[in-house]
Amino acid sequence: MGRKLIVANWKMYLTLSRSTALAKRISKEASRLRSKNNISIVLCPSFVALEEVGKVLRSIRAHGRLRRPTSNGITLGAQDMEPEKRGAYTGEVGLDDLRSLHVEYVLVGHSERRRYFKETDALVNQKLRATLKAGMRPVLCVGEPWSVRRRGMEKVHRYIGNQVRRGLYGVSKKDLKRVVIAYEPVWAIGTGRADSPEDASKMHSHIRKVVPARIPVLYGGSVSSKNAAEFVRAPYIDGLLVGHAGTMAREFSAILRAAKNK
Ligand code: PGA
Repeated sequence: MGRKLIVANWKMYLTLSRSTALAKRISKEASRLRSKNNISIVLCPSFVALEEVGKVLRSIRAHGRLRRPTSNGITLGAQDMEPEKRGAYTGEVGLDDLRSLHVEYVLVGHSERRRYFKETDALVNQKLRATLKAGMRPVLCVGEPWSVRRRGMEKVHRYIGNQVRRGLYGVSKKDLKRVVIAYEPVWAIGTGRADSPEDASKMHSHIRKVVPARIPVLYGGSVSSKNAAEFVRAPYIDGLLVGHAGTMAREFSAILRAAKNK
């Protein structure tokens, strides 16, 4: 898989105005980097910023620098969603609305959702299947806590294998091709302590054995401009899921350049 997929998860870090300003800067950088066309970028702002960030991306397309949504190298993602179609679900945001905002990717099962909002594998699976049914691409996030990692890689393989299998339960072979997996060790998220590219690469190779289709597997967890090149160069790593570093224009631009020059 030559083209690297770089997903920025802005979490709840940015206000609406900072989100649109950042989207403008990233779009400019992306059009500069586009010549080689070997990176795809997905921006995942908060729900309230989706519409405005989408407008920024489309206005740049309209000016001819970025054209077709699939080939322009920059698309919109949501951080979560409600799998029920419609109804009395106070505070939730449904897939129909996301689609009308031109969202193409949806993160499901992020460790913060699992931890703070008690999302189970069953709910993650429901969200993943609903996303596919709505015609969007789910990014299934998996990762082990430190309590599992410190017991050795064999335990990690079993833990991640189970998360992947449960997350993908009931998905047809055809739909599977639209899924992206992000391996994000929980202890590496937001800690400044990334996994080693060697260990991450081994995990990715293991995940590929568990999934009966060739789909992109991204690494996430304290990705920065300092380590991005090593991760994208490592075997079996198809791209990056970037949290905090993706909220800073210069830092994220440096990550994009590292991914492009792999
Ligand atoms: P981080 O977050 O890059 O800030 O560690 C990654 C993520 O949660 O996706």
